[in-house]
Amino acid sequence: MAFPTETVYGLGADATNPAAVARIFSAKGRPADHPVIVHLGHPGQVAHWARDVPDEAKRLIETFWPGPLTLVLRRASGVGDYLTGGQDTIGLRVPSHPVALALLREFGGAEAERHRVGLAAPSANKFGRISPTTAAHVRDDLGDEVDLVLDGGTCEVGIESTILDLSRRKAVLLRPGRISAEQLRAALGSPPAAPDALAPRAPGTLESHYAPHQPLRLATSEGWSQALHKASPRRAVLALSPRPARDASVMWIDAPQQPHDYARDLYANLRALDVSGCDEILVEAPPATAEWIAVRDRLGRARSG
Ligand code: TXA
Ligand code: MG
Repeated sequence: MAFPTETVYGLGADATNPAAVARIFSAKGRPADHPVIVHLGHPGQVAHWARDVPDEAKRLIETFWPGPLTLVLRRASGVGDYLTGGQDTIGLRVPSHPVALALLREFGGAEAERHRVGLAAPSANKFGRISPTTAAHVRDDLGDEVDLVLDGGTCEVGIESTILDLSRRKAVLLRPGRISAEQLRAALGSPPAAPDALAPRAPGTLESHYAPHQPLRLATSEGWSQALHKASPRRAVLALSPRPARDASVMWIDAPQQPHDYARDLYANLRALDVSGCDEILVEAPPATAEWIAVRDRLGRARSG
């Protein structure tokens, strides 16, 4: 079933059941060698899924769970390749959305905390497409391929969780998100490293993930009026600058000026622009400052070349 989290909607299946997890991959059209995040209802369940959990992980769990942080840890023995894409690591998180937490805490019953229980869940969209932030987005994407969609309203964070790899000696930030590198640094005592060639594979970090159907172009604020001038007459626009008088864009969305608000609305905005009848989506890039890193990361992946 699909269920809401504070980040985006997930497509969940019993993480201990390989056939159930295989159905996630077929519904999404996702390659089977991609690892999935296992969602837990209780931080205490980490011990059933991961081994050699470092002290840093314990600190981060205390500080940020339940919440939008995924930790990549060494997998415990018996954790199947079907969850990890054959890697020796497992991605884990306890989400904070009340519906997700209620679902996860019911699942497995009263004894759940003492057993290997969890829901494997990637974002509930077709592979390579924009993550859903409402129940309607899930239905639009997956239709009959999902039996049940739990409607928990609009996701508050709006972009996928921060992913931090703690399976090796150095903490590596695999995907930026609402929990910032600065917050991680404050909790860890030193800043997380950027991914390198040795980092575990994460398809969310491939170029050209999260893409709308129409080509998306990014323009800086400095070159904005020129970009607008040169754009297709059938453009649809997501802008931080005000709409010029007599602008003839097919659709114009005034993006929120604050990074968290911008992120919350981003995927719904891109979906609306995508189906507006435009032949091109033009986005005014937010500034290259730390508070915009996660949003800029997603826009960079949504752009076409
Ligand atoms: O916010 C989120 O993280 C959402 C909600 C539903 O929790 N989930 C999500 O899942 O974005 P997905 O599958 O679309 O992206 C998960 C990312 C992928 O890039 C995957 O490769 C990475 O997590 N990942 C999962 N397990 C991993 C592992 N063991 N090592 C490295 N990366 C891993
Ligand atoms: Mg995804």
